[in-house]
Amino acid sequence: MTGSDVLRLDAVGKEYPGPPVTRALSEVTFSVRTGEYVGVVGPSGSGKSTLLNLVGALDRPSEGRIVIDGHDTSTVSDRQLSAVRCRSIGFVFQSFNLVDGLDAVDNVALGLLYAGESTASRRRRAMTALERVGLSHRSDHRPSRLSGGERQRVAIARALVSDPALLLADEPTGNLDTQNGDAVLELFDELHREGATIVLITHDPQVAGRLPRTVAIRDGHVCSDVTAAPTAAEVSA
Ligand SMILES: Nc1ncnc2c1ncn2[C@@H]1O[C@H](COP(=O)(O)OP(=O)(O)OP(=O)(O)O)[C@@H](O)[C@H]1O
Ligand SMILES: [Mg+2]
Repeated sequence: MTGSDVLRLDAVGKEYPGPPVTRALSEVTFSVRTGEYVGVVGPSGSGKSTLLNLVGALDRPSEGRIVIDGHDTSTVSDRQLSAVRCRSIGFVFQSFNLVDGLDAVDNVALGLLYAGESTASRRRRAMTALERVGLSHRSDHRPSRLSGGERQRVAIARALVSDPALLLADEPTGNLDTQNGDAVLELFDELHREGATIVLITHDPQVAGRLPRTVAIRDGHVCSDVTAAPTAAEVSA
């Protein structure tokens, strides 16, 4: 692991206890450096959600080692594991997971609960995060009064607001039509250009095709890890 790795998986395996015992991942090794944007792709049942749970510090591997933002998840206590989850990772889910009784700014402020800040300071930071995703004009809307694409942008603001080391997105365009899905992917591109480290899980080859690096898993194994050649615009930038 180099100093700039945000995430490092070393021969990671996961078995679900039975009966019957199910092996979901074997010998998964890869790392993600600060500022990288990586897609994890694979067909249904290949182990993507299992991997997400491990990389998101929601579960621990059966074998091997995962280091998230400098913390080895196999050796930390349960309490430390949840601290890693809250401090180092921003989650974006397929189904947005917003609280319907709260307006957009308060949903975003939920991403700061762990920080123990005052309500006023959390709301200020939440407004800044909403500006970042282009939604400050919708700060007082509840989720039911937002479009699907806007809901996902609020969820992305909530994930970003604590400035996590890693943004972890699970099928973030899965519940969106093509136009809103594209807008969300453009937002991820922009966050990547601004320096965010992103791991995006998808079964959609079209989504994967536009990412700078894709790690493909099949039957619980990494079957390829491909970095795309930079575009002409990136070379001249
Ligand atoms: N809690 C569990 N207990 C036992 N087996 C499980 C459990 N969760 C997943 N599995 C098994 O582990 C394997 C990988 O499942 P996983 O949910 O990680 O796949 P996935 O790639 O996310 O699939 P999908 O695209 O359909 O969501 C599958 O064979 C699945 O049946
Ligand atoms: Mg899954």
